[in-house]
Amino acid sequence: MFEEEFDLENRIVSTSYTSEDAETDTGLRPKTLSEYIGQEKAKENLSVFINAAKLRGETLDHVLLYGPPGLGKTTLSSIIATEMGVNIRITSGPAIEKSGDLAALLTNLSEGDVLFIDEIHRLNRAVEEILYPAMEDYSLDIIIGKGPAARSVRIPLAKFTLIGATTRAGQLSTPLRDRFGVTFKLELYTPEELALIVTRSAGILGIEIDRDGALEIASRSRGTPRIANRLLRRVRDFAQIDNEGRITERIASYALKKLEIDELGLDNTDRRMLEAIIKYYGGGPVGLETLAATVGEEAVTLEDVYEPYLMQIGYLSRTPRGRCVTRAAYEHLGIPYSGGKNDIDGQETLF
Ligand code: ADE
Repeated sequence: MFEEEFDLENRIVSTSYTSEDAETDTGLRPKTLSEYIGQEKAKENLSVFINAAKLRGETLDHVLLYGPPGLGKTTLSSIIATEMGVNIRITSGPAIEKSGDLAALLTNLSEGDVLFIDEIHRLNRAVEEILYPAMEDYSLDIIIGKGPAARSVRIPLAKFTLIGATTRAGQLSTPLRDRFGVTFKLELYTPEELALIVTRSAGILGIEIDRDGALEIASRSRGTPRIANRLLRRVRDFAQIDNEGRITERIASYALKKLEIDELGLDNTDRRMLEAIIKYYGGGPVGLETLAATVGEEAVTLEDVYEPYLMQIGYLSRTPRGRCVTRAAYEHLGIPYSGGKNDIDGQETLF
């Protein structure tokens, strides 16, 4: 129904990693835990585990990172490798097609190395099964030959740390999830944390920005550093033309208005999704699959990309009967709130 509007890759507030992000982000990525802003809980614990492993002269336990896209899972993994003083190999679930691909990666690791598998929930079954003994006993069980002549050979591997990243911990199989020693849930960043990240990035890129300018960008970045850094680059363009390159609150607010990103970081796509729930389903509840079909998106995309932020700002809620838009969202969209049987604020929906 809305296909042309729901063009994820071209959304300026998309959490997907783009080639433009890649160009600047390499220089912006923090290299050490002390440079890394936010995720205080994860950072504190990680620092203990890293220091303890180093003191014992041991390899770090396998780590599972989960949370919405764009929060710095890859960055954090590179930092872990740097802090441990080891090399990192970066790959992703869909990139490992055959068990042989994973076997090749594993046998090339040196003692202590980090193997980072992004989107680990997308590993196929056969590959996943190679991973179990590798994680548990640092060994590779391979079958040589076929039929009655087939035999299993066990090859020892160097002790390594697997860091798995996923947007959905619930989709990991239990045997895989159980093999991680530590799990960290990454949270959306606060506007204050994002303002620090924006200020830091501006410093590295040689962009002049004041505190309120940084906060203006931060508060429209949907809790996501990847979006904050992208908005910073876009706002810089406006500042260059209008304000000798200097980013202030006025310029940031002007630029973001031009980009159709509102004060809360919602773009047209978010607004249309909320409007669709209101217009076609009386504000909800509507089942995820039905909603996905209505807006022409996959259910997982709605869950991973759109919903976390809309829920964080209290515009959308998940109920046992489906998704509901809240009164605050009606007000934000300037749509009169009618209440009634779908009134989630009136507690008509069951929890
Ligand atoms: N750039 C992107 N994410 C960051 C973070 N968490 N801290 C500092 N700089 C960043």
